[in-house]
Amino acid sequence: GKARHFKWEVEYMHWSPDGEEGVVMGINGQFPGPTIRARAGDTIHVELTNRLHTEGVVIHWHGIRQIGTPWADGTASISQCAINPGETFLYRFKVDKAGTYFYHGHYGMQRSAGLYGSLIVDVAEGEKEIFQYDGEFNILLSDWWHKGSHEQEVDLSSNPMRWIGEPQTLLINGRGQFNCSLAAHVSNSSASPCKLRGNEQYAPHILRVHPNKTYRLRIASTTALASLNLAIGILALKGSPTPPPTHHRRIFLLNTQNFIDGHTKWAINNASLVLPATPHLGSIKYGLNAAFNRKKPSRSVQARLRRDEARGKSELHDGSGVYMLRFNTTVDVILQNANALRANVSEIHPWHLHGHDFWVLGYGEGKFTEKEEAKFNLKNPPLRNTAVIFPFGWTALRFVADNPGVWAFHCHIEPHLHMGMGVVFAEGVRRLGRIPNEALGCGLTGKMLMNNLHN
Ligand code: C2O
Ligand code: CU
Repeated sequence: GKARHFKWEVEYMHWSPDGEEGVVMGINGQFPGPTIRARAGDTIHVELTNRLHTEGVVIHWHGIRQIGTPWADGTASISQCAINPGETFLYRFKVDKAGTYFYHGHYGMQRSAGLYGSLIVDVAEGEKEIFQYDGEFNILLSDWWHKGSHEQEVDLSSNPMRWIGEPQTLLINGRGQFNCSLAAHVSNSSASPCKLRGNEQYAPHILRVHPNKTYRLRIASTTALASLNLAIGILALKGSPTPPPTHHRRIFLLNTQNFIDGHTKWAINNASLVLPATPHLGSIKYGLNAAFNRKKPSRSVQARLRRDEARGKSELHDGSGVYMLRFNTTVDVILQNANALRANVSEIHPWHLHGHDFWVLGYGEGKFTEKEEAKFNLKNPPLRNTAVIFPFGWTALRFVADNPGVWAFHCHIEPHLHMGMGVVFAEGVRRLGRIPNEALGCGLTGKMLMNNLHN
């Protein structure tokens, strides 16, 4: 493969994604950020400089497994220290599988601030696409709020919590029109964002096609909240890898909503994810035990959770949400949805796993019971990195813990993650070679580096 080099600067800028001017997080003056295009087997080098004046930044490459480079996964507090203002971090990683991917900020609410873009990986040099087509279009879907992401963070963390509400506009390739359906009825002013000359920043992208030609649409959604439905048959593509027939370990993850000191939180097995000052990758690799709470929920807690009426009423325990997985074992995860704080309400959650693909073995309504296992699809389950749990339902996933590193597994709704809806998986960390210092320069690993320097 080739090496592909990019130099990026992240900065705030004025922009009008939907006809109302606001502030977005841009990359090299662009919103959405530049599209990365590569071939399977290539190595991407992104030299990322933080030009935000007062906050850190990281970028996650959604769907890229980061085999052998867990420090390039771009999760603040998990895989690396946030890049400080003025600093540069080198993301260097291999794209091993063709497909349509995207990247996005993974610190605070930077995805809803507009930090995202597309990442397209073509088949390896000399290989053929499975389908033939004459042209292709890239469609990146996102959601946009007129309120800034910092104010949203404050809203979500307030007591009582203020929900951020539906986005003002849905964007296609960073463009949309605010309130057009309304404006069409009431407005006859020429300033209406719905009357377009075509050269506006927010004017829709026009896809130019020729008759009788076949086009490929590459559709990705980087929405922070909105769940956009696009239905396609999901049985696996013929020839996709099939899952191992059995599992070594089953992890049951109960999703509930709870109050902690009056603050609304999401919790997994009663632990609401709090990100530590020292990224897990470094603290686990170097045995810095004080970096986070390693206590596992006791067997009795686990048993109680299983029996729990799933009302989210049980007290929160002080686990850290970190699960240590034995290297190379097959892990089943049963995501169990439950009632949220409001009576008779259960929400939909798209769960995303970093560092791996997983097989979706099955899903169903109500509480998962052992009986369901007989119905698992082990023959041709879809291989994905994100799967939904439906209201009051469960979803069963299987993956092989074969990628040394520390990996986030979380609800991809950004405000839900912000409120604690995630866990962390760690596997084979001791097998890793040297972690680049620039990923370690904070918290206890930062201190460790300083001490090494002085000795
Ligand atoms: Cu696309 Cu952890 O996220
Ligand atoms: Cu969620």
